[in-house]
Amino acid sequence: MLDALKDELLSQVNAAADLSALDEVRVSALGKKGRITGFMKELGALTPDERKERGQALNALKDEIAAAIDARKADLAAAHLKARLEAERVDVTLPVRPETEGRIHPISQTMDEMIAIFAEMGFSVAEGPDIEDDFHNFTALNFPPGHPARDMHDTFYLPDSGDKKMLLRTHTSPVQVRTMLNNKPPIRIVAPGRTYRSDYDMTHTPMFHQIEGLVIDEATNMGHLKGCLVEFCRAFFDVDDLPLRFRPSFFPFTEPSAEVDIGCSRKGGELKLGNYGDWLEILGCGMVHPNVLEACGIDSTRYQGFAFGMGVERVAMLKYGIPDLRTFFEADLRWLKHYGFASLDIPNIAHGLTR
Ligand code: PHE
Repeated sequence: MLDALKDELLSQVNAAADLSALDEVRVSALGKKGRITGFMKELGALTPDERKERGQALNALKDEIAAAIDARKADLAAAHLKARLEAERVDVTLPVRPETEGRIHPISQTMDEMIAIFAEMGFSVAEGPDIEDDFHNFTALNFPPGHPARDMHDTFYLPDSGDKKMLLRTHTSPVQVRTMLNNKPPIRIVAPGRTYRSDYDMTHTPMFHQIEGLVIDEATNMGHLKGCLVEFCRAFFDVDDLPLRFRPSFFPFTEPSAEVDIGCSRKGGELKLGNYGDWLEILGCGMVHPNVLEACGIDSTRYQGFAFGMGVERVAMLKYGIPDLRTFFEADLRWLKHYGFASLDIPNIAHGLTR
């Protein structure tokens, strides 16, 4: 009788067309109310000898059916996978979809180039908030309240919100202040970022970018400042004998202060960088004023240092021949396609900044 049951169950197992049909067979044979389980429950009514013999036979049947179910399950899974692989086959010979490729904005590329050069000299990158307070943007930088030098910056002030006067930072110099307040010398950082002034014409936009440099140590001097900037300008503009001229100037936060010009030629209306006798202003710099060091908790009798700041758009325009500053921010995709950079063109000293 068990042989008949076995044949019947095995043919059901092999006929199960999918996993759920197979599971129904399993439940009907081995489940709580299954047929084999039913026979097991009747064992109690038999004599010990009969029970032993019948029990062994039932267990063997149960094992055989369970094994058949497992085997069928594996077959069904393999068949299912095979069908999926057939159905979802990818045709690798199809042409790629015409994805539009993005470009890196010249500002981003230029800042990455600058960072690569300064990183090589041992500078790390520091950042600060675009919305600043009066202390970090002015007071700590030796602009006393009411000092006329504040008028040099056409500051955007935020609506008065009570205790602190908030503003959009007019330069990246507040990052110097934050760095000095939070770190002990020696300090060697560059701070690239957005800056804001209320101004708009061919050469001014209300938002623009600067990169700031700051070095503080015990024996830092003006020679280090010059060496650092000469090295930077020659690497950045890729002109080995590019001459630099340091002209005395004024910033509240540096003393002495200088403006730096690079050599150029404007002959025939074309601007060329190099040793041609003409000059073009590109950045401001100087030795950090002792008042700034003291306002930032640094002992000015022990430490001194230099700082510099430069406009990113300005040098990007020079290097890449971009004539109008305002076009940087018009988000014109044709412009970006023309002046932008390939995403894998990552500035690096080793292979030459940008290809
Ligand atoms: N913060 C100055 C500016 O925006 C630039 C500068 C930075 C000059 C550091 C000297 C030293 O005009």
